[in-house]
Amino acid sequence: MNNIWSDNIQGIKTLYLSRKLRFDDFFYRQYEGLFSLDKSKKLRILEIGCGPGALAEALHRWYPNAEIVAIDRDSNFIEYARKNIAGVEFVEGDATALPFESDSFDVTISNTVCEHIEPAMFYAEQKRVLKNNGVCLVLSARKGVRQPAECLKMTDTEKEFWDRVSDGDNVLEKYAVGKYSMTERELPIVMESNGFANVSTGYAVIDLTPDHPKYPPQMAENMINAERASELEAVQLSKAEATDSVIDRINAKFDSRIELYRKGEKQWDTSTSITMIIRGINVK
Ligand SMILES: C[S@@+](CC[C@H](N)C(=O)[O-])C[C@H]1O[C@@H](n2cnc3c(N)ncnc32)[C@H](O)[C@@H]1O
Repeated sequence: MNNIWSDNIQGIKTLYLSRKLRFDDFFYRQYEGLFSLDKSKKLRILEIGCGPGALAEALHRWYPNAEIVAIDRDSNFIEYARKNIAGVEFVEGDATALPFESDSFDVTISNTVCEHIEPAMFYAEQKRVLKNNGVCLVLSARKGVRQPAECLKMTDTEKEFWDRVSDGDNVLEKYAVGKYSMTERELPIVMESNGFANVSTGYAVIDLTPDHPKYPPQMAENMINAERASELEAVQLSKAEATDSVIDRINAKFDSRIELYRKGEKQWDTSTSITMIIRGINVK
């Protein structure tokens, strides 16, 4: 039983709802081009560090002929994914000791995971389970654009709460979160030095701006509510005694943002993410 990530770092809703948006079909064309996978083949795809499963769920929609297996060592994430996502085999286990046979996958993929695992171990296991000429896809979040609406700025009640709690950095250090973060130059260099060939890079820009008219109302409200869930879950994960007033303040902020959206009073707040995709071929 391992609940390190879900109990201390990011909760189920934070990860699932934000990734469900990032991997919405709206953005599929960008990923399709960057993944460059042969859809006609019956691919066996392994997602490493799948969290609560939003990317695996998208892969199942996007590659209906493929067999999707997804692994994470956090028991809560795997339990949630098994209950809520059909068509994917979810496995609890460690990326540095994958419980799979050698030469058994056509593709390995991970999103915001390489930052947390020692690179030689991260790549060695993928090389082992990938077939000859298999594709390794590493997705890594880059600095995006974040502009909150006026009504979503942190209130004094929240500031007081976070001033009381704030030992966030210790948690990150304690669990080696982001210990192996790399620059945009280092990422492909490290994939190459770990034995992958034909390495290429690209960027998916996921524009989450609820007021943009191209987004249907439900998707726009999902963007606002994903941020709400993440703020509420952060309070819960802090393990500090959360007074009702903090929870109420957060809910009130997001309720008013939804109201403004429904009235058509544009705020143009945005949370635009940039995901770097590094792609390499396993040559045995
Ligand atoms: C930033 S989260 C990303 C989760 C998911 N890929 C997503 O985008 O929602 C990092 C994930 O890596 C998992 N993880 C970290 N080290 C791991 C390891 N050695 N083996 C398996 N999973 C690991 C954590 O449990 C966590 O779910």
